[in-house]
This record gives sequence, structure tokens and C-alpha cells, in this order.
Amino acid sequence: MIVLDKENNVFTLHTQNTTYQMKADEYCVLLHTYYGPRIRSGDLSCLIQYADRGLSPNPNEAGHRRDYSLDTLPQEYSTCGVGDFRLPSIEFEPEDGSRLADLRYVGFELRKGKYSLEGLPSFWGGDEWETLIIFMEDAASQMSVELFYGVLENCDLITRAVRVTNRGTGVVRLRRCASLCLDFQNDGDYDFITFDGCHALERNLNRSPLRPGIQSVESVRGTSSHHHNPFVILCERQASEDYGICYGTALVYSGNFLAAVERTQLEHNRLLLGINPYHFCWTLEPGASFTTPEAAMICSPSGFGQMSRQYHRAIREHLIHDPLQGRQRPVLINNWEATEFAFNADKLVDIASSAAPLGIELFVMDDGWFGTRDSDLGGLGDWTVNENKLPGGLKALVPRIQKLGMSFGIWIEPEMVSEDSSLYRAHPDWVLGPPGRPHTRGRSQLTLDFSRKDVRDHVYADLRKVLDSASISYVKWDMNRSLTDVWSAALPADRQGEVFHRYILGVYDMLDQMRQDYPHILIEGCTGGGGRFDAGMLYYTPQIWCSDNTDAVDRLRIQYGTSFCYPVSTMGAHVSAVPNAQTGRSVSIRTRGVVAMSGTFGYEMDLNNTTPEEKKLIREQVAFFKEHYHLIQRGDYYRLSDPFQGGPFTAWEYVSPDRKEALVSLVTGTTHASPAFRTLRLKGLDPALCYRINGEGRWPGDMLMNAGWPIPMSLFQDDYQAAQLYLTTM
Ligand code: GLA
Repeated sequence: MIVLDKENNVFTLHTQNTTYQMKADEYCVLLHTYYGPRIRSGDLSCLIQYADRGLSPNPNEAGHRRDYSLDTLPQEYSTCGVGDFRLPSIEFEPEDGSRLADLRYVGFELRKGKYSLEGLPSFWGGDEWETLIIFMEDAASQMSVELFYGVLENCDLITRAVRVTNRGTGVVRLRRCASLCLDFQNDGDYDFITFDGCHALERNLNRSPLRPGIQSVESVRGTSSHHHNPFVILCERQASEDYGICYGTALVYSGNFLAAVERTQLEHNRLLLGINPYHFCWTLEPGASFTTPEAAMICSPSGFGQMSRQYHRAIREHLIHDPLQGRQRPVLINNWEATEFAFNADKLVDIASSAAPLGIELFVMDDGWFGTRDSDLGGLGDWTVNENKLPGGLKALVPRIQKLGMSFGIWIEPEMVSEDSSLYRAHPDWVLGPPGRPHTRGRSQLTLDFSRKDVRDHVYADLRKVLDSASISYVKWDMNRSLTDVWSAALPADRQGEVFHRYILGVYDMLDQMRQDYPHILIEGCTGGGGRFDAGMLYYTPQIWCSDNTDAVDRLRIQYGTSFCYPVSTMGAHVSAVPNAQTGRSVSIRTRGVVAMSGTFGYEMDLNNTTPEEKKLIREQVAFFKEHYHLIQRGDYYRLSDPFQGGPFTAWEYVSPDRKEALVSLVTGTTHASPAFRTLRLKGLDPALCYRINGEGRWPGDMLMNAGWPIPMSLFQDDYQAAQLYLTTM
């Protein structure tokens, strides 16, 4: 609910559990007055204190009022060069070379429903949303700024975006434009939580206390990256899974980002999230606008668990587009880890044949089916079937898969080209990078200039021929390198600062086209695993390959970190062969299954190489997953332990909305002699109900949550044992 106090220019955004407020004061400066647990009403600007601080300047209209300074007041969208020395939200340069932005409030608009952002992914929905637009301007440069707010009450979600328009007569260069600025006047000690890592070890949770100055994570790789995620949390020092105030902020964007938080001279905190100013410069001709990506904030008054569940609900119901419209997504088998590039049609059919009787429904043909792609040294860009491997093409292969009762999916990597390809030989100027400078390779490949429509159109036309040539129900859209040599032949020298952003807009444009042309196709995103696991990609690809690391033990951490923002239904997770290709570790098929079914379940191995006992277990796993699909994919998700603490087990839980059903999964750590007796305390159950566990016993909900479930000692008799408890009410 958005409440307006027009007389005092106070704007209050209420969600179910939170309140967010801003106020335009007597100088039309837009002050941020509050964000936190819900407060019934009122003008909260009484919380703001004024004091004369040495070396904090005063706006001209304040005269000699020295206690009024932009340097100390909480700003809704921070300015640049006119008295606020903290992180600026915006920076632009008119023709006179000044870099000053003094934004003042000029008006507002309130609408039912959700705003949308042309060419950019964003949360969507109907009248359950409200939109507030605040208009601001910098009078001297005639730059206008619109701050968009979308409010989705039941998810405690507030989305934000910014549109800047040049209303003057000269050209303006926009050098920085954050999607979100959050000033906290409370001086409590805060922690900054980020999700960091590397290829095959993404989204490790890191928590550090804020210290004076700026702390930040960013990507300059052209992707949101494996290395840092565009989702960060600010929280009270004592915040935990179930306690304390925390603020999640997610950028709905897949390119370079910057998430920075500054602890100021007054021990206040400012968080900024948006496109990374690194190599960013957008030219605004008179009348032109620039729109930022969207940012999505959720505040939880009661710990991380509640924040995550709200993000999960919002992403499932208002961000992804589900081509299956609520029907179960198929359990899949992918040939990559089994064959890499060494396969032919018979081998693929052989793998599919071993999977179909076990209940696996979708066969995915991974990299290596096209052009001269026999290794990762060549072939990218030539999207025609390699008939040496697949005689008769997809027309011959797909019916063989379908005959097994399975549907068919295919791998593509549209943004890339190999030097050893017909496409590159014909169009060497289509890759990123200026002429006369040797190209930097990544995985031996170059990047096509996806900021160019002509390049995209050519690639897409080739892909369409493939997608039209057979019955295809799934596409894995991969992208396997960081961007370098970022320069486009299609733009003049003074607009090269637009290429990074135009590239990702181009990716979105093609994904959107594909989604519209093939609404039945389930697109899984992938960037060398989880290098673009972000809310931007999720708008187009309802699931994303979580990591190239399929080791069940490493996956416990990767999926744990991912779960802070992103729901289980978005995490691509497969059982693969042991010893694991990335870690060399061997864990049982049971444990691998329990971990992988906490995602979009599938297998990535040659099931012909499994024993009859393993096959039996796989059949049971697939059946179990399908039976409990709704609970796993739609239930409320509870983290029961933190795998980064190296404790004796990792556990998590799904609870149905009516709390009559729950599923608990548990994986133990490395074993030791004389293990201690352990109990596992569950969450989210109905304290007044009694539950059966795996059809047995009578377990009161309050007992399971307060005293816990005694973990059988047998689970600690070997490394990495797994258990699942299915709870139903009596
Ligand atoms: C990337 C993906 C893998 C696989 C290979 C194929 O690494 O993450 O899953 O598709 O490419 O080359």
C-alpha cells in the first residue's frame, strides 16, 4: 500500500511486514526517512537529526544554516559534487564539462499495477502491484530523473529503477546511474553479506562487519560473474537465520555491476547497487533517456530465512515466465559429463535408452553436435548439425529419442564464435575488439558483438533453422568466457562506453525473441555453470545451471549460498558419475540424488555404467522427486544448518503452505570416532499438529521444532551419508 501525505510531501510504501518512507523537505531535497519493520503511519522525518559538522557544506538556499548539509542527511537518491561526499548515485557531464547533479523533487505519479522497463527484464504482475514515480530534476543542466518504485505487498518486495532524460539542448554524457541508493540513519553495527567464489565454486557466503569507508563487490567481466553475485545483504550484527533485521537487494541484471556500501563519518551506512561505472558512459542527445536495470529489495524483520522465502515467492510468481505453466518440469539426462565431445547418434540413443526406463523424461544433447566441434578449439558459430556424428541430422535423431518416450533438448552458445569456423572466416569483424589489436581468447573462443542487431539477427536465423528442424522442448543457452577487448565496430569512438551494456541488452533481446517465437521451450541459462546466476537471466530462463561443479559435497555450499535469493526451482542440479570430475571425490548415489533433487533434478552420466542396485535407487529417486515435486519446488524453504561452519551435517527443509507436509534432507560431514549424539531441530511446522516421519511414529510439531529429531547414529558411521524425512500430519 502506498500512502501519500501531499501536504507534507511524504511518501510511505507499506508491505505486509515492512515500511519504506521518503519526504521532500522545504528545499525539495528528497530525504530518505525510514526502511525497516512495519510502522503504522506518520511522518518519520522526526527521526532525522541536524547538526553543524565541520567541512560539511550547505546548499545555497539554506543560507547560513550550517546544520543543513547533504553530506549528513539521508538521501533517497544521492547527488554528485554539490555537498554530499558519499557515494554518488548519479554522475553526468553536460557540454560544459561540469559533473554536478543537484536533484530536487518536482512531483510524483501514483499508478495501480507494475511499471515495466523496455528492453530490460523486470518483475511483473497485475493489480496486486502499485507503482510510485517520483520526478526530480537538476535545474541547471535540465536533466530530469524519474525514480520508479513497485510495491508487492505480500512478498515484502519493493522494486526500483531510474530513468534519466536529457531535457536540455546539448549532449550529456551519463557516467554513473545506480538503480538503488539506500541510506540508513540508524547507527547500529551492520554486517555486509556477499556471495563470492570462482568458476565451479560459486556463491560462497561471506559476511563482514562494516568498517569506516567503502566496501564493495563488483563485476567487470561483462557477466554478473561466478566471482561475485549481484545480490547482497545488509543486516544487523546479531542477525541470523531467524532473528534480526536484514535487507536483501538484488539487481535484475546480468552484466557488469557494482554493489558498494559506505560507512560514513556519522556511522551511517549507504548502499548503492547498479550498473558498474567501470567503462560505462552513455551519450544522451537532447530528448534522449536512459533507463537503469531494476533492483529488488526485501527487508525481513526476522532474519535471513524469511527474507529468502519472500524472494523465492516473488521470483517464482512474478519474475520467471514458466513455459510449462505450473506443470512439472521434466527430470532430464544430459550427456556432457558422460561423453564431452566424443559421441555419435548411437551413443546418445544408448544413454537415453538407459535413462528412459528409470523415469527420466528429457534427453539433452550438450556441446559438440554442430559444425566442426570435436573439441573446444573450433566450430562455435556454425549452427548446422555435424552429420558425421549425427547422420540425417536432428530429423533422424529426435524421433529415436521420442520413441523411448522422452522429449529432446539441445545445447547452444549463441554469443560466441571460434576462429576455426565458417562464421568467423566470413565475418571476422563481427567479434568484439578494435582492428589492429590481437584478440584475447577465452576458452579458445571470441565473443560476437551482441550489441549489434545485424550480428544477432544472423545468429538467430541460423538457430531458428535448427529449432524448426525437429521437435525441441528445451534449450541450454551457454556462455563460456568473460568479455575482453570490449569495443564495437558499430559505434563511434565517443560511444564505446555503451558497449558493455548494449551487449547485455542484445542478449536479452535475443532471449526475448526466442521466448516469444518458441513459448513452449524451456530455456536453461548457463555461463560456464553459474556465471550469470542472476535475477536478470531468470526473467528469460526459468532455470540456470548452478555450477559446473557437480560434486555433491561442494554443491551443498553452492546451493546453500544460492538459496539466499534464488528459489530451488531455478537451480540446475544433476547427479553425475564418481569419482567426481571436478573434485575426484566419491559419494554414494543416494547422497548425490538427495543433493541434486534440491534443484531442477537431472542426471549427467552414462547410466549404462551403473549397477542394477544403483539403477533401482535411481528409479526410486526419480519417482520420489516426482511425487514430492510440489513440495520441493514450491514449498517454503528453510535452511536448518550452515555448511560453511563445517558442522557434523547440513540440513534443509521444505514445508507446504498449509504446514501439513514437510520434507527434510540431511547430509552428514566427514565421520569421526565416537560421534556425539545429535538432534535436528525442524522449522516452519504447525506446533499444534502431530506428524508421521516416513509414515511412522507420532511426532508433535512443537517437539520437532523445539527439542528436535534425534539423528540416528548410523548416519555418522561413514562420510557424507544422506537421509530424507517426509513428514505428514496424522
Ligand atoms: C560449459 C557448461 C557445461 C557444458 C560445457 C560444454 O562449461 O557449463 O555444462 O555445457 O560448457 O562445452
